[in-house]
Parts: sequence; C-alpha cells; structure tokens
Amino acid sequence: MNKVKRIGVLTSGGDAPGMNAAVRAVVRTALANGIECVGIRRGWQGLINGDFMPLSRESVGHILSRGGTMLYTARSDEFMTESGRKKAVNTCKMLGLEGIVAIGGDGTFRGALELSRLGIPVVGVPATIDNDVGCTNYTIGFDTACNTAIECIDRLRDTMQSHERCSVVEVMGRNAGFLALYVGIAVGATAVLVPEREIDFQKDVIERIQDSRLAGNTHFMIVVAEGAGHAFDVGEEIEEKLGISPRVTVLGHIQRGGAPNARDRETATRMGYYAVNSFVEGRGNCIIGTQEGGIVEIPIEEALKMKKHLQMDRYRIMEAMQFGGLYQTGRV
Ligand code: F6P
Repeated sequence: MNKVKRIGVLTSGGDAPGMNAAVRAVVRTALANGIECVGIRRGWQGLINGDFMPLSRESVGHILSRGGTMLYTARSDEFMTESGRKKAVNTCKMLGLEGIVAIGGDGTFRGALELSRLGIPVVGVPATIDNDVGCTNYTIGFDTACNTAIECIDRLRDTMQSHERCSVVEVMGRNAGFLALYVGIAVGATAVLVPEREIDFQKDVIERIQDSRLAGNTHFMIVVAEGAGHAFDVGEEIEEKLGISPRVTVLGHIQRGGAPNARDRETATRMGYYAVNSFVEGRGNCIIGTQEGGIVEIPIEEALKMKKHLQMDRYRIMEAMQFGGLYQTGRV
C-alpha cells in the first residue's frame, strides 16, 4: 500500500456514546500523519450519495464529551446491493479517498468487507451499546449505556421499594444479553433474562421472586434483555402466577444517548488512533479490537467469523446474590 493521503470516516448503524470521540481521534491522528480526512455523513448510505463534509482539527473540537454522532448515522439497504456498493466506490474515486474508517457494529463491518473486496481498504472501529462484536471484548458505548440503565433502574428501585412493588425492566442489546446481565448484576436484580440462556419461567422468575419474598424482600427487580422477550409479557405472566401487579418499563433509546464516560472516551480515542495507524503503516482491511486490555488488529473476514459468548459465570454470580434467601427457604 502506498502512503495514504486522504481517508474518509463514517459512523453507521445504531449510534453509541463515544462515536464522536472516535471520529475526533481519527481526524486528529490522520492530520498528525499528514493525511487529510473527509467526513462521510449518514453511514454507508452517505458514501453512496456522496454526502460528505471536510473535517479539520477545529471541526472535531468540543465533540469528545458529546453523545450521538456529529456525522449522523443510518442503516442502508442500498449498500447491501452490488449497484449501491459500486456507487460508493465511485464516491471514493471522486473524492480521492484511499481508505475508509467505519465506526459501528457487525452490520457496518459486513459492509466494510464488501467494500474492501471492491478495492477500497477499510478499517473498522467497533462501537455499539450491545457489546456484541465477536473480535473484541469491548465495544465503544457499552459502559456508558450500562451506567445510564443503572441510573434509571436505581430510580425505579426507589419507587418500587416505597410501594413494595415488582418492576420489570427491558433493556436493549439486540440478540445479546451483555447489557442486561452486567446491568442486572450492578442493580442487584432479582432475576435477569438473557437470550443466551433458555428460560424456565417458573424457576428463573417465579421461584426467584418467591425466594426473595421469603427472605424478607418486599420489592423485586426483573431485568429482561430485549432479545429474551418482551417485558410486558413477562409482567403479565408474573401477575398471572403470583397475583401481584408488576410495573413495566422499557428503557429504549434513552440507553443510547448521553455523554460518553471515561472508559468510552479513552477507548474510542485509542481505537481511533490505531485505526489510522493501520493505514499509516500500510495495512488496512481490518477491525480494531481490544483483547486482554491491549489493542489488536484482525483482518475483517476473520473478525466477522469470531464469536463472543456471554460469560455464564456472571449469570451464576447474579443468581448467587440471592442464595441467602434460598437457604432460608430450603430450595438449596
Ligand atoms: O444495536 C444497537 C441498538 O440500540 C440495539 O440495542 C437495538 O435493538 C437497536 O439498536 C434499535 O435500533 P433502532 O435505533 O433502529 O430502533
């Protein structure tokens, strides 16, 4: 690969706190290496449409602490087609882009692979609140989203405790339970439902509420990953089986907004730096990831095949936090 002179940067898929920090890091690292950086607005669709903005050192000032993405984001059906991708390649040719940094999740990286096959080198930076990208143990935005959900659930707990109620809270995560399980542990949930584990409603929800009640609790917190079911259905089943009236809350998109926290700003800055570094050192066509604390570069095709599993010891830890009640009731 010859020395790269101009690259593009885009954000794609669901936004995540820290995407702006990653854009800033990409632009500033590029400029520090004598590379120009062009912002592509609205993800892959923007690349198809030639929707761009020049980016300078100043234009990415004051975004480090801001949630969302200044480049806007989108999910593009047209980019899934060959003709759409050809249009995207033509935009790259027209703008003289010799590489693209794509910030997003797995869907974004599948697009990256297709574009790289058409001769445009791409480097992916994983950013999604779902933390469900196989090649990295951490995705930008996850920690902030966990903290946002925890703050909301702590508030719910105050009112549930006062009224001695059961709360059923649905959190995001798409098909993964990372967000639900981490949050469930951090709020001391009575039960957590995740898509990675088959649900036995009687054991996993009903008996856990009963045990908690027998241990002296008068309010209960059930956390449901959106991929494991709908909170309203869970609430109805609890009502039917236990004769109590749970209050149901779907946290929804509130989990995606807000200022990125320290971990997300710092990780985004490091990942953005190493993404550009991959071009500077003549590589590209990889995804940046974190593994055991360090930054790694994995070829896109290989990265897309990698699987990450929810750590089931965390599930057992969440369950163990209720064992006091279980001993009292003689269930164990
Ligand atoms: O992938 C991030 C995410 O927030 C998922 O947790 C959720 O399922 C999805 O995006 C929601 O997408 P949309 O913003 O299109 O409603």
